[in-house]
Amino acid sequence: MSKNPVLSDLFEGDTWANHVGLGRWADVMVIAPLSCNTLAKMAHGLCDNLLLAAYLSAVCPVVVAPAMDEDMWHHPSTQANLSRLAAFGNRIIPVEKGELASGLYGDGRMAEPETILEFLRDMLQKRGDLKGKKALVTAGPTHEAIDPVRFIGNHSSGKMGVALARELVQRGAEVDLVLGPSSLTVDLPGLSVHRVTSAEEMYAACLEKFPGADIAILSAAVADYTPVARAAEKIKKTDGNLVLELMRTKDILKTLGGIKKKGQVVVGFALETTGEREYALGKLQAKNADLIVLNSLNDDGAGFGFDTNKVTIFGRGGSEQVYGRKPKQQVAADIVDQIEKLLYA
Ligand code: CTP
Repeated sequence: MSKNPVLSDLFEGDTWANHVGLGRWADVMVIAPLSCNTLAKMAHGLCDNLLLAAYLSAVCPVVVAPAMDEDMWHHPSTQANLSRLAAFGNRIIPVEKGELASGLYGDGRMAEPETILEFLRDMLQKRGDLKGKKALVTAGPTHEAIDPVRFIGNHSSGKMGVALARELVQRGAEVDLVLGPSSLTVDLPGLSVHRVTSAEEMYAACLEKFPGADIAILSAAVADYTPVARAAEKIKKTDGNLVLELMRTKDILKTLGGIKKKGQVVVGFALETTGEREYALGKLQAKNADLIVLNSLNDDGAGFGFDTNKVTIFGRGGSEQVYGRKPKQQVAADIVDQIEKLLYA
């Protein structure tokens, strides 16, 4: 109907449909409807048709609008596959409730075309919002060496920080990501990744990058203590207990909050198990941050290693935004929306 060519096979007649070309040419790739089968293939890297080959080659944002019957939608394997897609940075437009192809009524209808269009318009409009801006993001844990073999660390995966870096890049910012030891890899135009190991190295990298940054988001789970001395050789065990003396690491957020200039936006995180609101508000003041993003370990599907998160964002003027549980990539979009409000206030 659009009078544009429709590509459906890797080979059309005897010509090779260039999936790499397609994946690099597009500003956005939309898969609507996304079937259960294609979802599963995308989640696991299968490449047996033109759509999947183009998906795997796409360097642009990918948006999917799933559609399937209710039981298939709720099946744990479908939900796990969707989480994988979200972790890849793909955007998921939620299904709607209504009459399904089976005649049943429930979750699984593809979002209405108008909703999809609205989503794309919103997303593409935001893409240039941070053009010319520079951002510093910390992510992942830090490892504090005890000896050449052992370290003190924590469970942070770095997913939230990487999602933030991706969101900032997609809106046009130039991003320095200071990443502690993490198995994640990210390679995006506009993103420089600086891999560090210890809190001291992270501190040094941040202090170097901060003066040129408009935005700093400190999402790393920096170790609060580090061994006073690092043994040069592996510590051999004895029958008795081992006592390690630890000293405080430098607080990066507090340091940046203390030296920030007018116009620089500094954002910190608080991960709490009790007294969440009070502690988050305390951090906002104590570290002179502009925003504190609180995630509670008490919320289902939030915290270490999960692909979803549930946050509340506290601002200096007493603002408090509560969000529902969402894929980390969408949480990143919410956080960056709040940062933009401050930046362009
Ligand atoms: N942070 C940092 N440098 C540190 C420690 C923490 O930049 N050496 C940042 C984190 O990246 C996060 C925020 O500070 O943005 C977390 O604050 P923190 O005081 O570390 O909180 P917790 O240690 O989790 O809590 P508490 O101090 O209450 O034990």
